[in-house]
Amino acid sequence: MNDNNLRIIVIDDDPGVRDAFKEILTQPPSSGIAEKGAALFGEEMPGLTSCAPQTYELTLTENGELGVDAVRRALERHQPFSVAFIDMNMPGIDGAETARRIWVLDPNIKIVIVTAFSEYRPCDIIHIAQRDDIFYLRKPFNSEEIRQFANALTHAWDTERQREILAQKLEAVNAELEDVNQNLQQKVNEQTALLIQSEKMSSLGVLAAGVAHEINNPISFIHGNLDTIRKYSASVTKLLQKYRSLEEAASRRGGDEIQALIAEINEFKAGHKIDFILEDIVSLADESLDGTRRVRDIVRELRGFSHADDTTPQPADLNEIIEKTLTMIGRELSPKTEIIRDYGELLPVRCYPQKLAQVFLNVLINAAQAVGEKGTIYIATRGVMTASNADPSKVEICITDTGQGIPADEMTKVFDPFFTTKPVGAGTGLGLSISYDIVKSHGGEMLIDSSENKGTTVRIIVPVGGGGG
Ligand SMILES: Nc1ncnc2c1ncn2[C@@H]1O[C@H](COP(=O)(O)OP(=O)(O)OP(=O)(O)O)[C@@H](O)[C@H]1O
Ligand SMILES: [Mg+2]
Repeated sequence: MNDNNLRIIVIDDDPGVRDAFKEILTQPPSSGIAEKGAALFGEEMPGLTSCAPQTYELTLTENGELGVDAVRRALERHQPFSVAFIDMNMPGIDGAETARRIWVLDPNIKIVIVTAFSEYRPCDIIHIAQRDDIFYLRKPFNSEEIRQFANALTHAWDTERQREILAQKLEAVNAELEDVNQNLQQKVNEQTALLIQSEKMSSLGVLAAGVAHEINNPISFIHGNLDTIRKYSASVTKLLQKYRSLEEAASRRGGDEIQALIAEINEFKAGHKIDFILEDIVSLADESLDGTRRVRDIVRELRGFSHADDTTPQPADLNEIIEKTLTMIGRELSPKTEIIRDYGELLPVRCYPQKLAQVFLNVLINAAQAVGEKGTIYIATRGVMTASNADPSKVEICITDTGQGIPADEMTKVFDPFFTTKPVGAGTGLGLSISYDIVKSHGGEMLIDSSENKGTTVRIIVPVGGGGG
């Protein structure tokens, strides 16, 4: 199949010339055209046999206007000509003007001006046609010359079109590459942001674990001493109560001197609120002990940052862990909080069960605190099965609450250590950052989505074989 454009138009007022073109370009060279050409143009035709025979699809027109019209119609049919042979000297518009008009319609067509006389110089024709990529054929010409022109110019036309198609394809590929490039850039930005975040997390983790370790010792002896002071104070209070009995007995029986001393003691007691101090000292010690207990809890959580308490990973049923966690936090939940369980069938996950329990605990307590007096916590679990070995099965846990939600400008901070919006003493701001770290150490992901005044969803995804630690 030949896809080349072999459509040629000949515009010449001389019927003899048109016939000659027809014979030269539509008949194989062996049919005696060499002799006919020689007879017509008065020349020998050297090298004719070397020319590869090619049959062209020829349109013959007898003047410039008809020629321009034929070009227009060919374009409308989407079958443009590749080459036009145009006689220079014709009645009506001449060859140069015809060429100019044809090029306005079809700038791709190759034009050969056929001219017999010399009053038109090539530069005149270029001037009229307004393009310099025009070819000339001087009469008398031979049929071999015409064949060579036809062959070379149809070939050039095809090559140019192919080049155009290639250029278009190249442009499309370039655009695609640009797209890919942009996507890659976006991916790089996202990965860089994640990397920065995880770097920040791990360096803060190390720092926090160090601080936790340093705090642990003094807080232990402060706690121990407070406990002892509380016990001592109970003994001292008891002793003072015994003195009070002695005081009463002495005031009943004693002389003036004793009465004066008792009055002095009573004055001192009133001035220094001794009765109040004796009552208050125990609750002060109790409150302080509560405080040190809380500091110890924080220290324990901080240690989670560096996995100081790692045990061996083992297969665990995450639905079961969530259930146990829910039992643990029972008292944190308001009786009006509705818990909806939507547990899917899960493969056992190789993990550090204590640590994942800590994650669920933190997320569920956050949800409970967010819903407050009344609301719903929806817990859904499901297995995410994948056939590929490269991406083994995962387990996904979604914990959604109908609480107050998180304002958009705080969303980027919730995983930051010490970020809390809770009143002093109510939150340390470590729950989510520790949880994030634990899930990450299981090769998983932790994502949070929230709408202010509507609620929050925390998604935890862990690979079944994840717990590498
Ligand atoms: N379910 C939720 N609904 C609304 N806000 C939330 C939710 N979970 C987390 N937050 C917001 O993210 C902040 C950080 O949570 P994170 O659990 O890390 O710390 P915290 O709850 O404030 O304190 P901690 O958990 O250490 O006691 C919270 O103070 C709160 O503003
Ligand atoms: Mg929390």
